[in-house]
Amino acid sequence: MSLQTSLSIHRLTLIPLTPEHATDAARLHMIGQPGSFLTSLGADVLEVVYQQLPRSPVGFGFAAVDPARPQELLGFVSATTSVGALFFEMGTRRLPAFAPPLLRRFFQSPGLALRAMQTVAYPFLHSTAPDGVTPAELLSIMVRPEVRGVGLGALLINALKAECQRRRITVIDVTVAAANDGAQRFYVRHGFTYKQSFTLYGQPMRLHRADIAARAEQPF
Ligand SMILES: CC(C)(COP(=O)(O)OP(=O)(O)OC[C@H]1O[C@@H](n2cnc3c(N)ncnc32)[C@H](O)[C@@H]1OP(=O)(O)O)[C@@H](O)C(=O)NCCC(=O)NCCS
Repeated sequence: MSLQTSLSIHRLTLIPLTPEHATDAARLHMIGQPGSFLTSLGADVLEVVYQQLPRSPVGFGFAAVDPARPQELLGFVSATTSVGALFFEMGTRRLPAFAPPLLRRFFQSPGLALRAMQTVAYPFLHSTAPDGVTPAELLSIMVRPEVRGVGLGALLINALKAECQRRRITVIDVTVAAANDGAQRFYVRHGFTYKQSFTLYGQPMRLHRADIAARAEQPF
């Protein structure tokens, strides 16, 4: 670990993810998920995603920052209390924000429009949770490449679990590309277990689930 890295980590603080983090969040998403569908939509669309998500009543997240530069992300985690409600909101009242960059992208690459329709169907693709349980969905967790492997991801996921427990949410789901071995090791280490496989955008995906009801997580 470089001196610069250890200094950054030393000064680390976690704050709620806000729309002001959107440009950096989009950039980290592009770096962290090369080849994924959302990345293929481009930085402009992702920036709108990360502007709108923290504004939604069902969206939330945490940003790992140096307190001296709170807009500059070292890493972040984003989540929703209801993936169905979030997608509905993004496709209706928040559509005006998405439409300009999305239409530009679909015009450049028409095949992406079909894949976007699969995204709309996504909440119905994987199995439902046990009766009466509405899982939160971890949407993305990204750490700047130069500070990976030193515990930022662990801090972010613990903050997410603590926040879910505060909201009386007992289950967290995450969908991860089957090829992303590193992320799956990370999730398993943090109490997620494999539930099922499915195909999205022609890619094998895996649903992992954490039951956080019984666990007393440390607040960050
Ligand atoms: C997954 C990720 C968020 C973990 O953050 P982190 O700060 O590196 O995590 P920690 O330091 O707390 O834990 C390290 C563990 O993360 C996992 N990991 C996954 N990719 C990694 C990478 N490129 N470098 C280091 N660790 C990685 C490993 O399990 C590692 O433990 P190991 O070295 O014993 O195998 C981060 O690696 C990342 O941003 N990856 C790219 C984006 C991504 O794939 N996100 C998940 C899907 S949304």
